[in-house]
Amino acid sequence: MPYLRIMTFNQLESEWQQHGLTDLEELLSPAESAELAPLRAEHRRTTWLAGRKLLRLLLLKERNIDPAAISIQTRNASGQGIRPQISQDGNILPGCFSLSHSDHHIAAAWTENTGETVGIDLITPGNITPRQFDWAMNDSEKQLVQSQTNPQKAASEIWAFKEATYKAANQNIEGFNPQQITVQQDETGSWSAIYCDEDLRQWGEWTLQNVDDDLLAMVTLNR
Ligand SMILES: CC(C)(COP(=O)(O)OP(=O)(O)OC[C@H]1O[C@@H](n2cnc3c(N)ncnc32)[C@H](O)[C@@H]1OP(=O)(O)O)[C@@H](O)C(=O)NCCC(=O)NCCS
Repeated sequence: MPYLRIMTFNQLESEWQQHGLTDLEELLSPAESAELAPLRAEHRRTTWLAGRKLLRLLLLKERNIDPAAISIQTRNASGQGIRPQISQDGNILPGCFSLSHSDHHIAAAWTENTGETVGIDLITPGNITPRQFDWAMNDSEKQLVQSQTNPQKAASEIWAFKEATYKAANQNIEGFNPQQITVQQDETGSWSAIYCDEDLRQWGEWTLQNVDDDLLAMVTLNR
């Protein structure tokens, strides 16, 4: 199982302070500062910084890694989003990391297993309308949503799985195209997905958990 940490933004701040850590912007590596610089919107800067704090706290807890010794990148040279790549004193840490935030929570996951990838996504079902993602769903997904007693919840689950599947499966080249991801549920209720025409069912695990009013989807793939 990947390491997983989920907390509210307030909990994150108080844990950061409990460790006696200083202003994160003073700890950022030059590469991280360069990623932060073009982000202008206050909300975006806050969530970006929160992701760097949570990954640092995760590594401090699990490996006692000094938060000042690491650098986290989630953009490639062309500015495209990539899964978090973390280096410590210039060496890339093994495994796969994933980050997600909602308006209330921030979550981080890390698997160290060679060949395993992880993707997580937080969503607030109360903010979603049942037909909001129709444009991104194929007929089987729309049918799945409409057949449920709570279509709003079902649409949220499918969308969160699309994002989490993308984060776990993408090759850091292709962008996120929800129409190329089909989320499916078998007769036993187990979820899985088809990603760019490849049925990933046998390669992974799709799980959901409630976090207060949010929902966290997690996908782990072992291919
Ligand atoms: C990666 C993507 C799929 C997720 O975005 P999101 O839901 O907006 O935001 P999340 O908080 O869940 O995830 C963002 C994190 O994903 C990570 N990420 C970015 N690109 C990634 C990639 N190619 N693979 C894996 N993870 C990636 C980053 O760590 C990023 O956080 P950071 O920029 O603060 O470091 C994004 O590319 C996207 O296009 N999202 C569409 C958003 C949308 O339409 N939402 C509708 C309303 S819910």
